[in-house]
Amino acid sequence: MDIKLLDAILGDEDDIISRMANISAFLYEHISDINWVGFYIVRGDVLKVGPFQGKVACSNIPKGKGVCGTAWERLETIVVPDTHQFEGHIACDAASRSEVVIPILDENGEMFAELDVDSPLLDRFSEKEVEFLTQASKLVFYKGEN
Ligand code: SME
Repeated sequence: MDIKLLDAILGDEDDIISRMANISAFLYEHISDINWVGFYIVRGDVLKVGPFQGKVACSNIPKGKGVCGTAWERLETIVVPDTHQFEGHIACDAASRSEVVIPILDENGEMFAELDVDSPLLDRFSEKEVEFLTQASKLVFYKGEN
C-alpha cells in the first residue's frame, strides 16, 4: 500500500479530527485482518478515545495502564504479538489477539495522541507494517503543502 494514496485522500483538510477519522476509515478498509483501528488523544492525565473504526472501546485510559497507557509512559511504539501475554492489556474487544500502539508526538516532542491497531490474529504486525502505520499516524498533522 502506498502512503501517498492516503496523503492524497486527506488532501488539504486541515482539521485534525477529520484527518484522524479518515485515516482510521482508510486503514480499516485497506489493512486485512484487523478488528479495531483508531486514535487515543491526550486529555490531561488520561487518554480519551478519538475517531476509530471497530467495536465500542474504553473511553478513558490512564498513563501506565494497558498497552496504550504504557506506550504513553515510555513514549515508544509497542508491538504486542500476543495480547494474552501482555500484563494489564485492556481487552476492549475480546477477539483482539495482537496489537500495535504508536505514539504521535507534536513539534515539541510532547505526545499528543496515539494510533492503536488491533488484530484477531496472533503476531499480525510485521516491522514493515508498523513502519507503514507510523507514516500513516504522522499524517494527522496537516503540513499545508498539498
Ligand atoms: N488494548 C488497549 C485498549 C484499547 S483497545 O485495544 C481499542 C490497551 O491495552 O491499552
